[in-house]
This record gives sequence, structure tokens and C-alpha cells, in this order.
Amino acid sequence: MTDTSPRASHDHETHAAHQHSADHDADGQAEILDLDAEVLAEYIDSITAWLPLGAGPRHIVDLGCGTGAGTFALLQRFPHAKVTAVDTSTSHLHRLLEKARTEGLADRVHTVQADLDATWPDLGTPELVWASASMHHMADPDRVLRRVRDTLAPGGLFAVVELAGFPRFLPEDAPEDRPGLEERCHAALDGHHAEHVPHRGADWGSMLTATGFTVEAERTITVNIGPPHTGTVGRYALASLRRMRSGVARTLTAEDLTALDHLLDTDSPHSILRRGDLTVRTERTVWAARRA
Ligand SMILES: C[S@@+](CC[C@H](N)C(=O)[O-])C[C@H]1O[C@@H](n2cnc3c(N)ncnc32)[C@H](O)[C@@H]1O
Repeated sequence: MTDTSPRASHDHETHAAHQHSADHDADGQAEILDLDAEVLAEYIDSITAWLPLGAGPRHIVDLGCGTGAGTFALLQRFPHAKVTAVDTSTSHLHRLLEKARTEGLADRVHTVQADLDATWPDLGTPELVWASASMHHMADPDRVLRRVRDTLAPGGLFAVVELAGFPRFLPEDAPEDRPGLEERCHAALDGHHAEHVPHRGADWGSMLTATGFTVEAERTITVNIGPPHTGTVGRYALASLRRMRSGVARTLTAEDLTALDHLLDTDSPHSILRRGDLTVRTERTVWAARRA
């Protein structure tokens, strides 16, 4: 029977509004993930090349794969491997599969939609599990680490890639009317993250060791790109600061928020897209952990 009560209608509208906002959020994140993959491609390549893997793995799992930055880098690095790409977001997985089809790689990619905090899907016995910028999103990362340990083939490798913080794009004395604005945005966002993403910046090496992994190697990669830069860097900076705005709007001063809005206004002479002095400054750390 169909429930047509006002309450059900309200629930339906609330659900529809929530779904719309979730879809919008997923689209915003997908754009940033794609730009991140493009801008940082050579750094991701250097990480996959560095992994202590003897024979190339045949089965790889990409946990929290997003739109496939790691999946495609791994498929390229290990030409005999198939990748199981897992994410909670159906729209990210859809986008990943579309790309795989376009690049003629669909037969080497299998997608699994799962919330890894809720149910652990059957992922076979991979020789490599890769988790880039996803472990800190888990509600209970220790439980996920145990699941990965039990899923890996004996002697298999778990590669955890994490970021210390989001990239910086503007020079420290920019913009001219509000120098240091970007750092103040990050400081404002840190409070938001401490509440909503408490495992960001966790000590993954110790947590892996405590779960019974042997951490064979750890490496921090410092990224410092441009100027000069390509248009992709401008779009990456624009998309990232746009997304950041929603997290900091209530905390920034009115003057800072106005200056941020000028940077985000692509018709403004102050638009971030018009700046020739943008950089991408960030760090990624990778832990290579072996299952005994
Ligand atoms: C910052 S993105 C990183 C995506 C990708 N690994 C990359 O390097 O571009 C984090 C991803 O983890 C996924 N994720 C977060 N929590 C998850 C969970 N509980 N189960 C499965 N995936 C999750 C998100 O949907 C998102 O795609």
C-alpha cells in the first residue's frame, strides 16, 4: 500500500532534497577527484612504481576508489592485473566505469558498491589492496584495517596513501586586499574537519603495525607544481576553493568571505582563473604494509 500521509510526503520530499544535495555533493567531489588525478598523475605514478612488489599482482582492490585515480594508475602499472574498485558512491563508480569503457579497460575493472563501515563485501584474495585518501573517511578505521588484513593473500601488500592537508594554490601574500586568506580558510576548515573527519592525519604506520602488518616502507612525497601552470591547475584551484567555501562560510570574517567570493567569481577580474601565480603545494604519504 502507498502511504500518502503528509508525514510520508514530507519524508519523501526530505529524502528527495537530501538525495539531490548528496548527488550535488558527489558531483562536486568527482570534479575535484578527476582534476586531482590529472594534476598529480606523475606523483601517483611514482608511488605505484615505488611499491615493494616482486611479481606484478594479478588481483588488486582499490578501497574508496572514488572516480578511479588509483584504479587507472594501477591498471597501467600492472598490465596483467584486474582491479576491484570499491566505493560507497554509485555515481563515482558509474563515472569510473564510463572511463574504463572509453579507455577499453572495462574487462579489467569490476566495481563493488559498499559502505565499508557497514558490510564488508566479498573481495576475493587480492595480492594488493590500495586505499588512497579514503581510510581517514572510515568511521572505524581499525576495523577496516583488520578486514583488509584478513582479505589479503598471504604475503600481500596494503598500500595506504594519505594527505596531510588539502593543497595550497595561492601565494602566501595573496590576494592583494586580504593577504593570507587561503591559510585562514584552511584554519577555519580544520575545526570543521576535526569534528567531521577525525581520523585525518592519524598515525597510520602505528595503526597498521598494531593490526599485525609489517610496515616495510614509508615515503612522503612533496608536490610543488608551477607556475607557469596549465589551465587544469586553475580549474583544480577553483573547484577546491569552491568546495571549501561551504565549510568555512560561517567562520570567516565578512571581509575574507567577500575576498573569497571575488576569487570564485569567474567573471571578476580577481577570479582565481586569471591568476598566473598559482601553484599546487601538497604532500602525500604512503605506507607499504605486508601481511605476514
Ligand atoms: C577523498 S576520496 C578519494 C578517492 C580516490 N581513492 C582518489 O584517490 O582519488 C574518498 C573516497 O572514499 C569513499 N568512501 C568514504 N567512506 C567510505 C566508506 N565507508 N565505504 C566505502 N567508500 C567510502 C568516498 O565515497 C570517496 O570516493
